[in-house]
Amino acid sequence: MKLTGRSFLTLKDFTKEEIEYLLDLAAQLKERKKKGITGNTLKGKNIALIFEKPSTRTRCSFTIGCIDEGGHPEYLGKDDIQLGHKESVEDTARVLGRMFDGIEFRGFLQENVEKLARYSGVPVWNGLTDDYHPTQILADFLTLREQFGKLEGLKLVFCGDGRNNMANSLMIGCAKMGIHFVILAPKSLWPKNDLVELCKEYAKESSATISLTENIEEVKNADALYTDVWCSMGEEDKAKERMSLLRPYQVNAEMFAKTGKNSTILLHCLPAVKGNEVTEEIFEKYADVIFDEAENRMHTIKAVMVATLGELDEEGRIS
Ligand code: CP
Ligand code: NVA
Repeated sequence: MKLTGRSFLTLKDFTKEEIEYLLDLAAQLKERKKKGITGNTLKGKNIALIFEKPSTRTRCSFTIGCIDEGGHPEYLGKDDIQLGHKESVEDTARVLGRMFDGIEFRGFLQENVEKLARYSGVPVWNGLTDDYHPTQILADFLTLREQFGKLEGLKLVFCGDGRNNMANSLMIGCAKMGIHFVILAPKSLWPKNDLVELCKEYAKESSATISLTENIEEVKNADALYTDVWCSMGEEDKAKERMSLLRPYQVNAEMFAKTGKNSTILLHCLPAVKGNEVTEEIFEKYADVIFDEAENRMHTIKAVMVATLGELDEEGRIS
């Protein structure tokens, strides 16, 4: 498997086998890191990290992942460059593409990360947009694999704002990987119909199922519950409305009891607003796995950079 030169903009562009390859590579990089082994696969590569929105995990993962493999990361915050203000995205892309070997972008518009890829001529990685958060899904799936030893056939229920970047990307990822995916959310916060239909098409191939529901009883038999903030970055003005809409969908002990299982885990992309989407008690109960998931951001993001830009052998492995 070789992904050299590819961008990572949405999981729609990747097959099940390609996603599996990235997870395998991440697991290998994780093992190496635990043994204190760093690499040189990104030696001589300069990587731009554009952040229009704040970040802890994604920024640190790209920075450390790049340095661990011998590359040089350069942080470009929203007030540091002209992107979209004094200079068009297209022109910024053409400048950065002449200087950098790879570009990470976190921002508002999916259209902008796509333009960066089109105009820069170097691999571009989506570090979160309003629509998608594909690198997070790799960390979530690596964590699920560590917990259950497999992905296929698991049931994952996303509880909360069912039309945000996390819900969208999880739905795509689960549909591709054969994970039964449920969105548990009020109807007004369900994802766009065309994306649901597309994911149902993917699901036919992987034998996953995709369902949307307002009924909390549907958490029954879930292997994992997943939640995220009720107001994503840039939607702070929606706080009041979301609190009243989403209060019934809070992940709490009562909801966990409805799974009917003792083995169900909780995933959260973080940052968490405890007391809103999840109670403090439940968050702490599953903190070990949630922070494994946070750590896995680094191993999986490193895998994306190494796979698309790194020096690898013929089979796309670290030699
Ligand atoms: N989960 C995630 O993307 O975290 P940050 O916003 O801290 O990068
Ligand atoms: N939906 C959240 C995810 C944060 C990682 C946001 O966009 O703010």
